Amino acid sequence: MGWLGLRRTPELEVMAAAEEVDAYASAAAQKYLGAIDDTLVEQALALGMRSGVLLDVGTGPGNIPRKLLRRAPALHVVGVDLSPAMIRAAREAARHEGLSPRASFLLADAARLPFAAASFDSVISNSLLHHLTQPAAVFNEMARVLKPGGRILLRDLRRPGRLAFRFHVAWFGRYYSGLMKTLYANSVRAAYTGPELRRLLDRSRLAAAQVFFHGRTHLGFIWKGRKDAGP
Ligand SMILES: C[S@@+](CC[C@H](N)C(=O)[O-])C[C@H]1O[C@@H](n2cnc3c(N)ncnc32)[C@H](O)[C@@H]1O
Repeated sequence: MGWLGLRRTPELEVMAAAEEVDAYASAAAQKYLGAIDDTLVEQALALGMRSGVLLDVGTGPGNIPRKLLRRAPALHVVGVDLSPAMIRAAREAARHEGLSPRASFLLADAARLPFAAASFDSVISNSLLHHLTQPAAVFNEMARVLKPGGRILLRDLRRPGRLAFRFHVAWFGRYYSGLMKTLYANSVRAAYTGPELRRLLDRSRLAAAQVFFHGRTHLGFIWKGRKDAGP
């Protein structure tokens, strides 16, 4: 890493504290995050994630799978998260919106998914990557549970350089306050850069995935499996 690079500072994996769950679910944070989530929902739909069973890894309160269910009536979703509080929030929101018949939320570790191989038509993950210390293990699990011909869409924050960091957090975090602002700064510090994500993918079963950038704040990858051969 050059002198302009910002060293990555890992973040705790599980978001378990009640105040973290509340901060994440607060109205101001959700309004801003909701608009960003909408762009991921559009990307997933454009990739054909409209039917079959979709797995959301690190689902949090299940906002993105619920948005997908509202847009795609033939879709079923399974969301997994390490945090019991997040799973409770996701189940409650799905029940409240009448989506429970097409949504299941389970406590599980992304690195040890409790599903048989080739169980899902598609896999998505949003804002999980920066929590992970061993992302390649999680990428391999995503590949294992995906059916041949399935698609994976992962997106997360992107870590800027050292000089840009303060401006980046002040500007792109301007809709957050209090604990949420601190959580955002910690998450940006823990995020991976484009070259780091490329190297992580190259060491996994998803080496053929395409890395993409979404504005200055996010990055991710798309994996399109072949029908005749799994990942
Ligand atoms: C920033 S939140 C994102 C939630 C959701 N994907 C969204 O976009 O709203 C990250 C979530 O990943 C969960 N998480 C962290 N490490 C995990 C792991 N190893 N397995 C499953 N979930 C994990 C956290 O508990 C937290 O709910």
